[in-house]
Amino acid sequence: MALTLSDPVPRDARLEHAFDAGLALPTTGRIGVWRAGGADLLTRLPQERVHVIQGFRPDHDALTQAGFAVSPMPEGRYALALVCLPRAKTHARALIAESAALSDGLVLVDGQKSDGADAVLREVRARVEVLGTVSRAHGKAFWFRADAAALADWAAEPATVTDAAGARFVTAPGVFSADAADPGSALLAAALPEGLGPTVVDLGAGWGYLGTRLLRDPSLRTLHVVEAEHAALDCARANLADPRARFHWADATRFTLPDPADTVVMNPPFHTGRAARAELGLGFIDAAARLLGPGGALWMVANRHLPYPAALQARFREVTIAVETPAFRVYRAAQPHPAAPRRRRRA
Ligand SMILES: C[S@@+](CC[C@H](N)C(=O)[O-])C[C@H]1O[C@@H](n2cnc3c(N)ncnc32)[C@H](O)[C@@H]1O
Repeated sequence: MALTLSDPVPRDARLEHAFDAGLALPTTGRIGVWRAGGADLLTRLPQERVHVIQGFRPDHDALTQAGFAVSPMPEGRYALALVCLPRAKTHARALIAESAALSDGLVLVDGQKSDGADAVLREVRARVEVLGTVSRAHGKAFWFRADAAALADWAAEPATVTDAAGARFVTAPGVFSADAADPGSALLAAALPEGLGPTVVDLGAGWGYLGTRLLRDPSLRTLHVVEAEHAALDCARANLADPRARFHWADATRFTLPDPADTVVMNPPFHTGRAARAELGLGFIDAAARLLGPGGALWMVANRHLPYPAALQARFREVTIAVETPAFRVYRAAQPHPAAPRRRRRA
């Protein structure tokens, strides 16, 4: 089955090479695969024994549809653990520590050089004996016997961000702006007027930075917090502990509500995996237009260079730039055109 995933890295050549170089696939037991964002790697593994640990909802759903067992968190123990390296180093370390704690055999790490695979290999080698390495297709795979104790201090620790007013928020390795509020989001938060409710959608909410500002609006009755990253949504739940907040682990580009919203607020993503894709932001703009009622408005921040003005004008009758800096623009777009066609997702 063809898959539309965020990470179409051709890892299978590396895995094949690793088997040739002596990596032994256990004959029984489950194979845990952390953060697989592409099916390529999985074609070399016995599908019925693979359990994918994938918290990014679009990839989770695509792999489920393709017949894999997938869940956002690990479940039980594994005969082999395979980690597809994410780009953020703290996230990579946390996944390696988690997989090493749950594997009864080897841990295999696979990553692109551009994602820091060489540096991670050096760090792992300083702690455990690396049994084999292979280099192929601009990346590296290496494996070692699982040793939870040697890697325990890499385990994910909740981090906190403190805002200008001294409020503290929980974040986690790998979530967007895990160390500090994003400057674009801060610009948007400062530009938002009051009276945006009663029903507001925070699309791609991350750990809830914009949500904290929205919940200060007395007109707000319901805040829909929509986020594809499971770990980020968990942080948002902790940061937005308010009975008006409803949490949705969902792909924003497919998200629907039974009733139209008054306001959508977003700082849309334009990266999936390693690829920059403004197309994702266009999917968010379509979704916002679809979610809003005829009198509703979208408030959105984006890097100036991103090609969003034409898309906003195609989907809304009224588009204004509320604030502009050398780096960002905050747009307000009102009066969505009715019956917006759904944008087709591309591989
Ligand atoms: C630029 S960040 C903004 C986060 C947060 N709103 C803020 O201002 O700090 C975009 C967010 O969208 C999330 N995201 C990416 N693709 C998504 C999708 N298809 N559906 C829902 N959320 C998605 C990312 O995980 C990330 O948290």
